[in-house]
Amino acid sequence: MIVRSVSLGSFRNYAALELEPSPGLNLIVGRNAQGKSNLLEAIAMLGTGKSFRTAREAEVVQRGQSLAFVSGVADLARGRIALSCRVALTGGIARKTYAVNGAPVRYAKFLGSIKVVTFVPADLHLVSGAPSLRRAMLNATLSQERATYYADLARYTKHAAQKSAYLRTAPQPDRQLLGTYNALLADLAARLLLVRGRYVTQLAQAAAAVHRRWLPGGALLGLAYRPSPAVDLPDEATLRTQIHAALEEAMPRELARRQCLVGPHRDDVELTLGGQPLAQYGSQGQQRTAVLALKAAEYAVVRERTGEAPVLLLDDVLSELDGQRQEAFLGSVEGYEQAFVTATALPGLQIGSAHYVVEGARLSRIR
Ligand SMILES: Nc1ncnc2c1ncn2[C@@H]1O[C@H](COP(=O)(O)OP(=O)(O)OP(=O)(O)O)[C@@H](O)[C@H]1O
Ligand SMILES: [Mg+2]
Repeated sequence: MIVRSVSLGSFRNYAALELEPSPGLNLIVGRNAQGKSNLLEAIAMLGTGKSFRTAREAEVVQRGQSLAFVSGVADLARGRIALSCRVALTGGIARKTYAVNGAPVRYAKFLGSIKVVTFVPADLHLVSGAPSLRRAMLNATLSQERATYYADLARYTKHAAQKSAYLRTAPQPDRQLLGTYNALLADLAARLLLVRGRYVTQLAQAAAAVHRRWLPGGALLGLAYRPSPAVDLPDEATLRTQIHAALEEAMPRELARRQCLVGPHRDDVELTLGGQPLAQYGSQGQQRTAVLALKAAEYAVVRERTGEAPVLLLDDVLSELDGQRQEAFLGSVEGYEQAFVTATALPGLQIGSAHYVVEGARLSRIR
């Protein structure tokens, strides 16, 4: 898919911007704090309806303003689409509204029309960082891909938060009420685990293949889904029963600790190299190469599953790699139709369809 135009209004440091990006690779170079990440954040929002940098989306509204928007037109396999996302501030509270082809839609309808795969510096901690980073990686892809996953995840998160608040605050939590929560959570968790499990299996194959191509004869990169509770992934009904049993079994511990201890909010994905956990044993270089393989794999799998080449957004990550890795990475993201790559300087990179310089939220095309 190709984004043909992007307009921003009062979005972070951009008072207004009109951009007609090129197909292929758009390289955006600028000194620190000029608006590179802000632009990628806005383009990603056209795909995900959310900021990849902050959960407090009031922050995207330009300081002193009360309404930010990003809108754009993209060509998809099924035709042209116009999208817009507005963030309105009232009394410091942000409210987002969405439109597709000029008509207001709900978030679940907006999400995922444009598929984006992002790669930001924080992703370089994917191997050794907190499990939440790896869950966020799964959620970002799967929510864009299917509305049912997003809906299940939103409901799961809401009910798990309610249960957790209840465990924390009730003087004498009622076991029967907890049982009701557990039945509801088991139902949603079973669906989430199945979808995540299938996706990780596909991702594992693709990541191992990319890694093998880069380092022929090297140790095998492995990726294993570690669901909570630790179960195999049979059919949905059996899984629901197993999760429910695990939740009931955890109840005394949950009551003692006053928190939710079991469920997909505790899932993880483990990366191994030659069978050894990379987080504990991998060198910096091995971890970094694994992350690159994972990102290239994510791109390949989304492309295969949706039949649409996602827009690739690389914020400031290439400059952290040496020249050989830069080219290896770009070369391995096969068949991308459009990419946006930011950097403070990329003297080594001669490829690219369009080069821009950004200075104080103004973009000038230099090539
Ligand atoms: N809501 C906002 N209103 C106005 N300016 C903002 C807002 N949010 C962020 N900024 C400013 O936008 C500027 C550009 O930020 P951005 O993160 O895009 O920089 P960058 O070009 O990616 O820099 P770096 O190379 O350091 O990553 C920064 O000075 C930042 O403080
Ligand atoms: Mg930046």
